[in-house]
Amino acid sequence: MTVTLVPPSHRTRTAPPAGLDVLGVPGEINLDYAATAPCARAAADAVAELLPWYASVHRGAGALSRRCTLAYERARQTVGDFFGARADDHVVFTRNTTDALNLLARALPAGTTVVTFAGEHHANLLPWPRGSVRLPVPGSPGEAVRALDAALGELRRDASPGVPVLVAVTGASNVTGERWPVAELTRVARRHHARIAVDAAQLAPHAPVDLLALDVDYLAVSGHKLYAPFGAGVLIGRGDWLDAAPPYLAGGGATSHVGAATHDVRWATGPARHEAGTPNLLGAVALAAVCAALDGADRAALHDREQELLARLRDGIAALPHVVELHTFGPDAPRVGIVSFVVAGRDSSTVAAELAREHGIGVRDGLFCAHPLARRLLTEAANRSGRRDLPPTALRASIGLGSTAEHVDTLLAALATLG
Ligand SMILES: Cc1ncc(COP(=O)(O)O)c(C=O)c1O
Repeated sequence: MTVTLVPPSHRTRTAPPAGLDVLGVPGEINLDYAATAPCARAAADAVAELLPWYASVHRGAGALSRRCTLAYERARQTVGDFFGARADDHVVFTRNTTDALNLLARALPAGTTVVTFAGEHHANLLPWPRGSVRLPVPGSPGEAVRALDAALGELRRDASPGVPVLVAVTGASNVTGERWPVAELTRVARRHHARIAVDAAQLAPHAPVDLLALDVDYLAVSGHKLYAPFGAGVLIGRGDWLDAAPPYLAGGGATSHVGAATHDVRWATGPARHEAGTPNLLGAVALAAVCAALDGADRAALHDREQELLARLRDGIAALPHVVELHTFGPDAPRVGIVSFVVAGRDSSTVAAELAREHGIGVRDGLFCAHPLARRLLTEAANRSGRRDLPPTALRASIGLGSTAEHVDTLLAALATLG
């Protein structure tokens, strides 16, 4: 099996924008950005700059503490601005997207019905209360919009007026990279007086996401998928439900008054209500540094470059008869730099291990914490390809700022040897 490689003259990588080069280890090809992206220089520099000042946040009067508190609140402002937060939105730092969506689930007014699709990551399937509605995986973006419209219409007919409804959808699939029609789904939600939360864990690293422009109510993001280190994420959105809900964690920093009696406590309003305990200053500052660097970059150029690499990867996979790509909306749907596939007749975890051992390539294998979707797509891939020897789990390659044509070609050449 041969793979057509682009001539070397086309392989030169233009210098990454300031601060957006990523750290890594020479010889290790990371094609697993969708799980955790490498750390951007901007994030590493911001952490290194702040480390000598390392001190308490919101808890000290010393110069170090004041600087740390300022850095933390500036990070909140930067992250909020980057994601188009409205003036009265809360920007709550969390540990990651899972944490952000669980926080939102706990803040729902009693009786809220949540509507999701079965194509979601577990983080956007499992936190929602009993009685939530899970719509089947749609075959196209249009079908998603129509299904939501019908479901919300039915809910509104059957439910008593004023019962809150929240639609929770992903911006881009962590399995296929396909983009979901967030703007259209938001218009449908608005028409039915429902709120909408967008899981932007996979979309935000690849495309601008703006709450105000999209008119969505809530946004959840993970720092570690957005070129910042582990441990910081964010939930941004409407303050009313968040301020009315019990605190996500009870403890120091989340109160405005605690009396002597056991239950004599007034909880703070604003982000502090849900950020009890000492916060992750370095995580927030690192995430803000990446947001600032991306804000100053030519996002359209970054997008074009990524799409070129993605096309190279998908075209290369399509040319391998023993490799079958998974997709929900079809091969031509807009997508971010994520591709899932199977190698016919080969166990996916064995292939992933072989890619690592023999080619220095890191990819993900499994069902990607989206079991209902991944199982469905594996069945669909078997039907479409007519092959009866597809494995029960898949492989996923995902790219981003540090990816190059050489990385993609090395993977394609390695996959070619498996035929
Ligand atoms: C679409 C999507 N949502 C949510 C998550 C959960 O992110 P985290 O593990 O950072 O909480 C992921 C992680 O892969 C994801 O891909």
